[in-house]
Amino acid sequence: MSTTRRETTRSRRDCIRTMAAAGGAAALASCTPNTRAASDTGDQDAASIDAVMIESSPAQSGFPVPDSGYLQAVNDICRKHGAKLIIDEVQTGLGATGKFWFWQHHGILPDIVTTAKGLGGGILANAAVLLAPGIKEWFFDTAIPHSSTFGGNELGCVATARVCDLTMAPGFLEHVNVLAEQFAEGLRGGPYKVNQHGLCMGILSEELGKMEMTAKLFEAGIFTVPAWYTDGGVEFRPILTLTENEADEIIRVFRDTVG
Ligand SMILES: Cc1ncc(COP(=O)(O)O)c(C=O)c1O
Repeated sequence: MSTTRRETTRSRRDCIRTMAAAGGAAALASCTPNTRAASDTGDQDAASIDAVMIESSPAQSGFPVPDSGYLQAVNDICRKHGAKLIIDEVQTGLGATGKFWFWQHHGILPDIVTTAKGLGGGILANAAVLLAPGIKEWFFDTAIPHSSTFGGNELGCVATARVCDLTMAPGFLEHVNVLAEQFAEGLRGGPYKVNQHGLCMGILSEELGKMEMTAKLFEAGIFTVPAWYTDGGVEFRPILTLTENEADEIIRVFRDTVG
């Protein structure tokens, strides 16, 4: 289908509006955990919002546990107003939370899912945008200009194909859930709060502090990332292919280091 300049300009404008809505959603997302449930803004012109993009448990907020019903409410509001629901699963996807996608824990069905990080197997940078049937046609019909210097990264796709084989293999998610239980048990009673979704964890302690905790753990051989939007939290995401013995060792070092 050919695209006129006017249509292209319109597509760009739609994109910008979509991104603006995404900013609003990020603010909404940062209200979790345990604050207010998603509510229809009412006074806003909801019909003019094309899409809501949300990181369903924001890593940089220490993987807060969404209030019960929160994501469903976001989903319902999108459906009500015809806005597309875009979920960022860059951190939480590919089995990290014990289901293949985090949104599967919440009984919702996004229109678009973004995924990256582990998609390249930790070796080659790769990312993907997954489109539900219907959206795919819309994407191509509106001919949004889409290019990328590294798009179609063949070598990355080989790594990704292997990652998909591994993560979709029978027993993979069960293994993640066994490890997650091990970490839940192993970290119980420490001087920090643990937000946990499978192997996506936020370890929160204002007293220990995010920079101090990150530095101490790094010295001890455990790589965590400061969770910037917390007062004292780190992102802790052990790899999914650990053996149970390796998990025990990590837990032991973690406890010896930060309690
Ligand atoms: C939740 C989330 N979304 C998106 C991104 C961007 O991913 P990438 O660097 O693979 O483009 C990141 C990177 O840290 C992230 O944590």
